[in-house]
Amino acid sequence: MREAWVENTPPASGSLPRVRLPGARVLVTGATGGIGDAIARAVHARGATVVLTGRREEVLAQLRDSLGERVEVVAADLSERDGPARLAEAAGAVDVLVANAALPASGRVEDFDPAEIDRSIDVNLRAPIQLTRALLPGMLERGRGHVVLVSSLSGKVASPRSGLYSATKFGLRGFAAGLREDVEPLGIGVTVVFPGFVSDAGFFADSGVKLPRWVGTRTPEQVAAAVVRGVERDRAEIDVAPLGLRVGTRISEIAPVTAARVQRRLGSERIADGLADAQRDQR
Ligand SMILES: NC(=O)c1ccc[n+]([C@@H]2O[C@H](COP(=O)([O-])OP(=O)(O)OC[C@H]3O[C@@H](n4cnc5c(N)ncnc54)[C@H](OP(=O)(O)O)[C@@H]3O)[C@@H](O)[C@H]2O)c1
Repeated sequence: MREAWVENTPPASGSLPRVRLPGARVLVTGATGGIGDAIARAVHARGATVVLTGRREEVLAQLRDSLGERVEVVAADLSERDGPARLAEAAGAVDVLVANAALPASGRVEDFDPAEIDRSIDVNLRAPIQLTRALLPGMLERGRGHVVLVSSLSGKVASPRSGLYSATKFGLRGFAAGLREDVEPLGIGVTVVFPGFVSDAGFFADSGVKLPRWVGTRTPEQVAAAVVRGVERDRAEIDVAPLGLRVGTRISEIAPVTAARVQRRLGSERIADGLADAQRDQR
């Protein structure tokens, strides 16, 4: 497969992987979505038992039937106050958490009603933190575990209409950085995966919005491969995007105001408005 990712950091521990996927128990949130489906398949193909979750029970059942053995499903609504705690309890002794579920949360913040804002923050940021908190004691007791948080390049650089989404995705990066400091010495790995635009499936592909030809995409399978690699190689951060987007992201981190001006000239507002319109019913 074409090299799809950039590992921004050396192995976090500089040592052997803490969790071997064959035989591990892996909880994948958002498994009913485009990228979650690919993550579930990739982790399962490595020999893990997967616990798959989302709200849509019929999609979970289809995925379980297509994977065969070593699959459990737990339907859960992560926007509910006790949703993450109930899911963690039902999932049992989890070795690897892949917190992948999210809402697109695109659009101008004044166009969201207050409940929609809460739901985006609850699903995208609160649930990964609460799930980590609930599953960590078991990992610490067993002396091994790994937390993978699926962020986005919007978790490094904001663009028009991405304020709410970026707030949640930047938040995951900050949470992971602090968490890693606390749990790495205790045998627990933490990886953040930062996809750019993802083709074929998932909420960008579903929107039908067309990108300029020079903006490349990556596939759900490439994001899933990065998740597997993050665990197996104990990587702290992995970008999954073509070179141009990764360079643009790096420049934006250094010179955000200038980069935003250039982005606007290149048509970022048209793309952002198209996404916000197409994703309005997912708030
Ligand atoms: N697609 C992209 O281009 C792209 C780019 C960068 C980052 N990402 C990130 O990749 C991850 C997956 O996105 P995707 O594109 O695969 O999105 P997707 O196809 O829309 O899937 C979203 C998933 O989140 C779940 N979910 C939503 N609300 C939920 C709730 N209240 N409770 C429980 N689960 C809920 C959905 O399950 P149910 O509907 O069954 O509840 C679904 O499985 C997200 O973290 C996203 O931010 C995506």
